[in-house]
Amino acid sequence: MLESLLEALQFSPHNIPLKLQIAKLYMQQRSFAEAEQQLIEIIDLDNNHLEAKYELANCFYKQQKVTAAEVLLEEIIKKKTEKKYLELLCYCQINQENYSDAQETYKELLELDANYENEDFDNVLKVNTTTREPDFVDEDGLSFLKKPTTNFASIGGMDNIKKEIDLKIIKPLEHRDLYKAYGKKIGGGILLYGPPGCGKTHIARATAGEINANFISVGINDILDMWIGNSEKNLHEIFETARKNTPCVIFIDEIDALGANRNDVNKTSGRTVINQFLAELDGIDADNDGILVLGATNAPWHLDPAFRRPGRFDRIIFVSPPDVEAKAAIFNIHLQEKPTETIDYMALAKAAKEFSGADIQAAIDVAVETKLEASFKDGIPKPLSTKDILKAIKKIKPSTKEWFVSSKNYALYANDSGLYDDILAYLNIKK
Ligand SMILES: Nc1ncnc2c1ncn2[C@@H]1O[C@H](COP(=O)(O)OP(=O)(O)OP(=O)(O)O)[C@@H](O)[C@H]1O
Ligand SMILES: [Mg+2]
Repeated sequence: MLESLLEALQFSPHNIPLKLQIAKLYMQQRSFAEAEQQLIEIIDLDNNHLEAKYELANCFYKQQKVTAAEVLLEEIIKKKTEKKYLELLCYCQINQENYSDAQETYKELLELDANYENEDFDNVLKVNTTTREPDFVDEDGLSFLKKPTTNFASIGGMDNIKKEIDLKIIKPLEHRDLYKAYGKKIGGGILLYGPPGCGKTHIARATAGEINANFISVGINDILDMWIGNSEKNLHEIFETARKNTPCVIFIDEIDALGANRNDVNKTSGRTVINQFLAELDGIDADNDGILVLGATNAPWHLDPAFRRPGRFDRIIFVSPPDVEAKAAIFNIHLQEKPTETIDYMALAKAAKEFSGADIQAAIDVAVETKLEASFKDGIPKPLSTKDILKAIKKIKPSTKEWFVSSKNYALYANDSGLYDDILAYLNIKK
């Protein structure tokens, strides 16, 4: 085939369609130099031959002359936007690790064809696949400054944690002038860690209700964006908003997810988010005075150790399951607005062995459901009794055990500088 075409070419050396055909055949058999030769000759004959230019770009790309391919493609795309041009350009940009441009190109492709799919691009350019509008920014960027309604009164136990938060967050914000007088900046972070359901999120929100400062509560999904590069931008916007609204507390829940990579194919994206986060924490190009960061996680061992350097999360607090007194208090708080007989809170607390706050809530829910059913008969609400709740407690399995199984291992074998000593102390394990 190729030979007969080459023969034909001898009789009409300026036949462009013929030359293009030959070039494509050369490409197929990976004779790129020969293909390149033909394509360049076509372009010499007709400088507006986009198809030849596209094939030449392809030829360059295949020979790893990626920048040359890119230049050529950009020139073509200026004249005409076509799917395959954009697609090749996107491959070039990914090859050059120019992800932000690749992302733009991919977006253009999707604009051109909403049904366009490309797994290669998805793997590299998207960090997670759930499409979602960031729901925390509006035009003026302030909609996520919410004042919560809870405060410390709605928290049972946790006295040492309340004290720590008071010292590190509330007092400094209340006495900014005093701090200034001593030339001490207000800033830095507290990291709360511990088993699920034991009140990390709860106390962070209550902190917001305690203080006279702005409070930004950010879910990890507000930060992580499907597009590479957007997560960093989101983080920056959050911190910028805080800087414009000092004093301000930024609460980041499930903070370990910042470092956890959503997509193994692209290892670098998680790293850049972490780096951006650390840069924002350090306030390298900005003034972080008056900004406090509160983080919560139940997997602190997944956090990058760099998070713990001075000035970052320099206070790490273990939020343990509630002790008996705290459990009694939590029962009390959660039964406040329900019809009850006189309740023996201590008896409940003692029965709820190894329960977390969330388990207590679950037990109360079960008791309420049972009571509701009994009340359907005559339509009269029956008050909850201690016995009702004791029965419900038996039906709930404490949910923190599993967490201690794995955390114990970290505390025993990956406990650099005694970071997790609190876990060992809680479990009564001597080092
Ligand atoms: N000390 C407490 N006082 C009152 N309620 C509590 C307390 N601890 C937990 N609770 C209740 O349990 C629920 C779960 O707590 P929370 O969401 O704060 O747990 P968490 O530590 O953030 O868990 P996770 O690690 O799963 O995010 C809360 O909504 C709250 O009602
Ligand atoms: Mg939580």
